[in-house]
Amino acid sequence: MKEVKIESTLYVYESIEELAVDVKELMSKAVEARNKAYAPYSKFNVGAALILDNGEIITGSNQENASYPSGLCAERTAIYYAGAKYPKANIVKMAITAASQNQKTTAPIPPCGACRQAIAEYEVKQEQAIEIYFMGETGSVAKSNSLANLLPLVFDKSKL
Ligand code: THU
Repeated sequence: MKEVKIESTLYVYESIEELAVDVKELMSKAVEARNKAYAPYSKFNVGAALILDNGEIITGSNQENASYPSGLCAERTAIYYAGAKYPKANIVKMAITAASQNQKTTAPIPPCGACRQAIAEYEVKQEQAIEIYFMGETGSVAKSNSLANLLPLVFDKSKL
């Protein structure tokens, strides 16, 4: 038996003001998307914006349903739309922001496990890392240089 240690690196920016101009712009698109979330049940609004290598920006927000599992997270709404509209484009960066309707979220909110798996599919397919920035409503912004940092031991097509 041997111990296997898994390490991940994240970078934390104190606020959006510290971000590069293009990422700040992407995060503001995620905020716009977040404000269009349909989240009457959880009261938790999430917005995602991603920029493709063709320069297009695609956004998405969570869309809930009275039949709870039929709803979809913001990240998957955006990434599936990007895949449907620009199937040949690579995703370069993704910005995510989450805000509760009940209280202020000040810590970075990471994508859920199902969304990590969905983003991993595209990262593996395009053979190019996706930079992921995530935050709450205000406060610091966390950055991962690749989805792989957020989902070690990924299950992908190489395992099939
Ligand atoms: N949600 C997202 O949109 N993205 C995530 O990564 C986490 C959760 C949504 C799903 C649901 O509408 C609400 O947030 C509460 O879970």
